[in-house]
Amino acid sequence: MVSVNIDGCGSFVSAADYNSYVQKALAAYDTLQAGNGEGNDFLGWKSLPVDIPESLIRDCEAVRDSWAGLNVDLVVVIGIGGSYLGARCAVEALSHQFLRTQSAPRIVFAGNNLSEEYLAELMDLVSQSNVACVVISKSGTTTEPAVAFRIVKEYIEKTYGKSGAASRIVAVTDAVKGALKTLATREGYRSFVVPDNVGGRFSVMTPVGILPIVLAGFDVRAILKGAAAQREALMERSADNPAVRYAAMRNLLYGVLGKKVEILVTFNPKLQYLGEWWKQLFGESEGKDGKGIFPASVVCTTDRHSMGQFIQEGDRVMFETTVVVENSNREVVIGSDPDNLDQLNYLSGERVEHCNSMARIGTKLAHIDGGVPQIEVCIDRISPESLGELFYFFEFACGISAYVLGVNPFNQPGVEAYKKNMFALLHKPGYEAMTEELEKRL
Ligand code: PA5
Repeated sequence: MVSVNIDGCGSFVSAADYNSYVQKALAAYDTLQAGNGEGNDFLGWKSLPVDIPESLIRDCEAVRDSWAGLNVDLVVVIGIGGSYLGARCAVEALSHQFLRTQSAPRIVFAGNNLSEEYLAELMDLVSQSNVACVVISKSGTTTEPAVAFRIVKEYIEKTYGKSGAASRIVAVTDAVKGALKTLATREGYRSFVVPDNVGGRFSVMTPVGILPIVLAGFDVRAILKGAAAQREALMERSADNPAVRYAAMRNLLYGVLGKKVEILVTFNPKLQYLGEWWKQLFGESEGKDGKGIFPASVVCTTDRHSMGQFIQEGDRVMFETTVVVENSNREVVIGSDPDNLDQLNYLSGERVEHCNSMARIGTKLAHIDGGVPQIEVCIDRISPESLGELFYFFEFACGISAYVLGVNPFNQPGVEAYKKNMFALLHKPGYEAMTEELEKRL
């Protein structure tokens, strides 16, 4: 289970302030659990780990098996924001970083940007592959995935015919509304539903995450099991509840010490996309009404050699939350060298993970000395279960934290502004007045 260590904040905050923020976090916990706060029509995520029916997982496995029957070796997963980051986080965390170790097809992600070069190079790969596609959009109208899907769909239809396309394209979207739902119905694509009461960034345990994870060959039941166990562990209303402690401390650091930036730190490159998923979760949930902690992330020790200087000695605006992985899944021991020209013999016989741990602990102490409070979110090892634990822990803590901050955790009104400008600048019908106004500013 996830545990939270806030010892690294002890020299920065008073016990009285901490206790007062724990009381605020407990009140926010009550609001979240009673379901009577703002955005309470988007609380479906809370029970997903226990609500997901076995039949849904079997339906995802049926897609996997039917594509195996077609010898599909590449699946393009199209989606953006909450419609891709959770799946990408799980796939990156669980995959071998260099080799293909599962018999499952290769998974690539698209529709998360509008770069022409990205799409052109994607199509270079697609044209050399036996391809299938999962297109994910809750609204069914988001431009980035729609553009990517139009291009991939056209290729699939040309290569495999209309009926071939119907067996190689699966849509994950709203049950009834949106352009993607209409298209899926018309073209006869298999479809999975994103529940109405689950927002994008909380949707990793719906078909949005489950289908790509199953297609990538990973154990989604274990992810759900880990999430369900974490949910159970967070049910206790207590000052010791790890989500309450995390939410209380981060709000205290923000509200009393003025720490406006939280950096999620990992010491394993496999968790890079945990940082990306976490940034969206907290950024979209809290950054509104002129408030919010700016979420950033680093992967160490890599980024100690780029961001380390600033974190140690730059403007004292930040605190760090390190995801501590207690055990490595693999063992690599440093050998002995009679010449010792690299002067590393003092480490011979040590595991590399020991060096990684000492780098982490050394950094923690240095950053405390440098005025950067340290929170640790600890898991046993990288596994499907612990990913489920982390997903649920951060979602639940985010709900509490945003209520402490006094914002609606479950809306994202600010995301619309750029979209409207983009539509106007692209001359989308219906945006004529705005087009004229914006073009005058250019
Ligand atoms: O969290 C969110 O709601 C957003 O990031 C969405 O997931 C993102 O904009 C994609 O939306 P959609 O699934 O409707 O295409």
